Amino acid sequence: MSSSRALALLAKMTLAEKIGQLVMVAGTHTVTGPVAAPDLVLRVRQARVGSVLNLFGENETQGLQEAAMRETRLGIPLLFGLDVVHGFKTIFPVPLAEAAVFDPDLWERTARAAAEESVQVGLHLTFAPMLDVARDPRWGRICESPGEDPWLGARFAEAKVKGFQSPPHGIAATAKHFVGYGAVTAGRDYAPVDMSERALQEIHLPPFAAAVAAGAAAIMPAFTDIAGVPLSAHPGLLHGLLRERWGFDGVLISDYNAIAELIRHGVAADLADASALALKAGIDIDMMSPAYEEGLPLALERGQVTIADIDAAVLRVLALKERLGLFDTQRRKVPKKDALANRQALAREAARRSIVLLSQRKPVLPLKPDQIIAVIGPLAQSRRDMLGSWAAAGADDETITILEGVRTALPNATITFARGTAIDDHDASGIAEAVAAAGKADLVLLCLGEACHMSGEAACRAIPELPGCQRALAEAILDTGETVVVLLSSGRPLMVPWLFERAHAVLATWFLGSEAGHAIADVLTGRWAPSGKLPVTWPRAVGQIPIFHAQRNSGRPENPADSFTSKYLDLPNSPQFPFGHGLSTTQYAYSDLRVPEGGPLGKPVNLAVTVANTGSVAGEETVFVFLRDIVATVARPMMELKAMAKVALGPGERKTVALQLAPGAFQFFGLDGLWTAESGEFEVLVGPSADRACCLSARIRLS
Ligand code: NOJ
Repeated sequence: MSSSRALALLAKMTLAEKIGQLVMVAGTHTVTGPVAAPDLVLRVRQARVGSVLNLFGENETQGLQEAAMRETRLGIPLLFGLDVVHGFKTIFPVPLAEAAVFDPDLWERTARAAAEESVQVGLHLTFAPMLDVARDPRWGRICESPGEDPWLGARFAEAKVKGFQSPPHGIAATAKHFVGYGAVTAGRDYAPVDMSERALQEIHLPPFAAAVAAGAAAIMPAFTDIAGVPLSAHPGLLHGLLRERWGFDGVLISDYNAIAELIRHGVAADLADASALALKAGIDIDMMSPAYEEGLPLALERGQVTIADIDAAVLRVLALKERLGLFDTQRRKVPKKDALANRQALAREAARRSIVLLSQRKPVLPLKPDQIIAVIGPLAQSRRDMLGSWAAAGADDETITILEGVRTALPNATITFARGTAIDDHDASGIAEAVAAAGKADLVLLCLGEACHMSGEAACRAIPELPGCQRALAEAILDTGETVVVLLSSGRPLMVPWLFERAHAVLATWFLGSEAGHAIADVLTGRWAPSGKLPVTWPRAVGQIPIFHAQRNSGRPENPADSFTSKYLDLPNSPQFPFGHGLSTTQYAYSDLRVPEGGPLGKPVNLAVTVANTGSVAGEETVFVFLRDIVATVARPMMELKAMAKVALGPGERKTVALQLAPGAFQFFGLDGLWTAESGEFEVLVGPSADRACCLSARIRLS
């Protein structure tokens, strides 16, 4: 329902002013930060802009806001948006890393902290959370996503929407990129998408459904198409599903220039055509394309859209501005700058809990405090790369490098440094010096991986291995026979089986944000027992992609003794590391799985399992519950994640962990296009990862 203020404003607006509300324009950058270009100021004064992206700072936004509110006829405030994806000033781990914590409470807290910082610089909206289910490490944007699993994505969505939008200092969240973007052909950004209705419904839509249910203020359609229908012009999914079926009454914001790109997709002949397709499908705001401003007047003249279509979009934009309190300067009071230390502590907590101990050939952690440690590799001293792909206002000089973190945490150790090589060039001349440093040390910390710009948008890699001559560096160091602990920075699984075979330990340290160095040191020194788990299956080789835990069995499941089964000649089907994998410096034992024998469909099912910490240090374990519908009218995956729990355990401690399967856990997208649960037997698997061999299992009959 539109407010009387919105209706009164609408009644006074000219067509140009209405279209102005639907236009989002970017600020530009100078060396000192984002600024409003003279052209933008002019357009704002002419009421041709309703919202602005990439401009922040109290002064920067206030100046432009005053132009909008004082110098235009109707004084409608501007909306300021930015990609605050994993932090604004204090940068948290990239989403794929943070997903590895499997803790909705943490996800919510980091989003809330990011929102609080954003409000202080005049921002109202973030283009986050990114909710694309991603199963292809070639795709650079896997780094921005919560990983491969729809159920996990849905939990991530709820937590992030809640955190970003939490009163009193929340900002509007934009769930993106609706939908199916993670399934781009061959893992290549912006490429076409084709998928079954079932994959769309069961895999790609659930995180968005959760975001809508959690009250997300905005949604951004993906750049991509599905089966030839670009999402920026998809009436079935935008209008039909989002608005009509799910009742989404927020704002739809196009991706950058995506409406004009409908011409290149080959579904629109000109800007008027493109604007009509997008508006009719339900997009309210045109981000950075000329389509709405230049095309809509013509589309109206041609009868491709009606003024009622335009009015409906304007009313939704005004409703969002009202909801955010933009008309009411009193309500937009910014919070007092709270102690920076709180946010640093949160960033450090998030970062250390995101680290995944991938492999450990001998127990080398924690590091001894008084040894000679050679810190080697191109990521050891890099600041910017610690921040990751959407660093917003994160400052390089406030970012803790790995070398700094280790030096601070181990004051009694002798710590040497050699870069060895750059991240991505072919100059191997520093390798000899690195080998010499390794030879003099008791232990090597080898800091390898990608530059942060090698993950994220437009950062796909056909060969996701170590770039440049890092392999040569690593092999030279491993050849010394020293104890080598590898810290692997990346926004995706890197396919380096040789490294896992040879290094004594490998930790996925992703892009961990402002506190990266301290967080890594916390794990290396035993202040925190590694607890992160993979939110994505880690392949052995590119040829295995897409690889994920929720695969169906097929009629000919892999059987090494039978050639006519589903397998490769040159590699096993199994991944390098399964979904949920993550070792620790302590060990956990699972026992006593309690699952009822039966029960009615449509009711939650309560389970319990005992988890014991059998090691000698305190730790935090993530318990997963997977489900398999054994016989159904549609073949179901061998295992699907349906619940999880976190449990903190002291050395020797054991706890009973209560878990619940929601009624929806037993449903699938039926042959009739409806979600359905069929009576029969289900297999329940509970354990530390999606490796069946590590899970306890039981059967339950539901009817
Ligand atoms: C393009 C990206 O696809 C999207 O995720 C982002 O929010 C916009 N650019 C704005 O920066």
